[in-house]
Amino acid sequence: MNEEQRLKSGLIKPDLSPGLGDKEKDYSQYFETVYTEPSLKDAKKRGQEEIAYHDDFKIEERFLGMGKGRKFYIRTYGCQMNEHDTEVMAGIFMGLGYEPTNTVEDANIILLNTCAIRENAENKVFGELGHLKPLKQRNPDILIGVCGCMSQEESVVNKILQTYDQVDMIFGTHNIHRLPNILHEAYMSKEMVIEVWSKEGDIIENLPKVRHGNIKAWVNIMYGCDKFCTYCIVPYTRGKERSRRPADIIHEIRQLAADGYKEITLLGQNVNAYGKDFDDVEYLFGDLMNDLRKIDIPRVRFTTSHPRDFDDELIAVLAKGGNLVEHIHLPVQSGSTSMLKIMGRIYSREEYLTLVKKIKEAIPNVALTTDIIVGFPNETDEQFEETMSLYREVGFEMAFTYIYSPRDGTPAAKMKDNIPMEVKKERLQTLNSLVNAYSKEAMMKYEGQIVEVLVEGESKRNDQVLAGYTRKSKLVNFVAPNSTIGKLVNVKITAAKSWSLDGEFISVVEKEEVLL
Ligand code: SAH
Ligand code: SF4
Ligand code: F3S
Repeated sequence: MNEEQRLKSGLIKPDLSPGLGDKEKDYSQYFETVYTEPSLKDAKKRGQEEIAYHDDFKIEERFLGMGKGRKFYIRTYGCQMNEHDTEVMAGIFMGLGYEPTNTVEDANIILLNTCAIRENAENKVFGELGHLKPLKQRNPDILIGVCGCMSQEESVVNKILQTYDQVDMIFGTHNIHRLPNILHEAYMSKEMVIEVWSKEGDIIENLPKVRHGNIKAWVNIMYGCDKFCTYCIVPYTRGKERSRRPADIIHEIRQLAADGYKEITLLGQNVNAYGKDFDDVEYLFGDLMNDLRKIDIPRVRFTTSHPRDFDDELIAVLAKGGNLVEHIHLPVQSGSTSMLKIMGRIYSREEYLTLVKKIKEAIPNVALTTDIIVGFPNETDEQFEETMSLYREVGFEMAFTYIYSPRDGTPAAKMKDNIPMEVKKERLQTLNSLVNAYSKEAMMKYEGQIVEVLVEGESKRNDQVLAGYTRKSKLVNFVAPNSTIGKLVNVKITAAKSWSLDGEFISVVEKEEVLL
């Protein structure tokens, strides 16, 4: 960042005391924002910082009522962690007296909660910032903010500083609890407010939340990632792996159950590493799942699990079933051992297949889904074929598939790549055809069967039809009274499509009855 940009960022205020040299100036009276440039290098040094747990979050009195007569709008990109962070930010906004709105035209504050996982995710955000420019020009009082994973990248912060002067504030994934101060600063200052901490991360327990809906809820069990797969930006944007204390998680889920929620999804970039950072207790992901089994909530899911830490204890607990659903999302990324090695995934094709075998033996009706990257630097036809054959061998029911996207600052971004984009696109298409065929086949098996569906509401495509998901995350559309919304129901499947099932409503599920 050069002097002019620092000035623009608000880090340095214009010279208000002529005659003094830079070093002697004290800007603190004019400017109070803490600014630490996001740094991928710092993020990579792990382990030095202690994790601090806080439960003292409080909206300062001076900020109460800040949002009176004002509305906020948050657009969320990326994964469930971001969706859940949005719920926390919405909670803070409401605590400040703001009201939510779902149109940008109606908003006084617009936040883009961004994702950095692939280039196209970032481009969408830059595109949206472009669209917001005329709105800001028409109404300069609107505040526009960028938060989430992109804010943790120094290249993004620099680009916004240089080209997107419609942005009023940028803050990082470790700064969410500072939202009231950041907003205050943005109202007071004419400069762009930037607050991004390159720290390993703390855990703040008592942040407010406004959850989206009252049927399904997300619950963070851990934050960050220490795996450093060579292609991935997440360990840099989300900090080090740190687990919430079991008592805090169990308390939150008991409360959700008491509030009538029917399904929870445990969140973490690598949930199987849960508890490995505790140095006072021996309590791992399997122990947590075993405790959650005893809570009276019908469904417990988790995402995402890394194959490396998927231990036998966990498999044994999941095999007990009950509220632990028999769907496991187990990203493989590639079917080739040599490719997995370059990706830094720390397991081989054979180890992955052995794990799958163990899971299938313990949970015979398990549904496995996965994530796959094609076109990693120098991936050969043979290596790609190994991914295809692994897909068939496991018989995944669904997959998220991606073309590799180089991320600045990751080891893979420095690898020279001799595979043309055309070839990568062809591979993606070939893989997607296989994914579609396997999904359709998995769906066909349901025809004529009765499944348990958690009814979420009207179908997005047809308000005469209700929609919900099975325990194995299959979307089911059917006609039933609206009074079934939020309940578990039995549905007889009449037709299978590639990505959803049609069925006939049979009955509301009585307690303790578990189907499929
Ligand atoms: N923590 C999860 C993944 C989170 S990111 C896990 O390890 O399983 C979700 C998916 O995005 C990854 O599984 C991977 O398939 C994909 N992904 C991550 N970085 C990528 C990149 N640079 N290019 C393309 N896809 C990527
Ligand atoms: Fe990224 Fe790997 Fe961590 Fe998943 S486990 S978030 S792919 S570094
Ligand atoms: Fe994207 Fe950050 Fe999630 S990079 S996938 S929003 S952790």
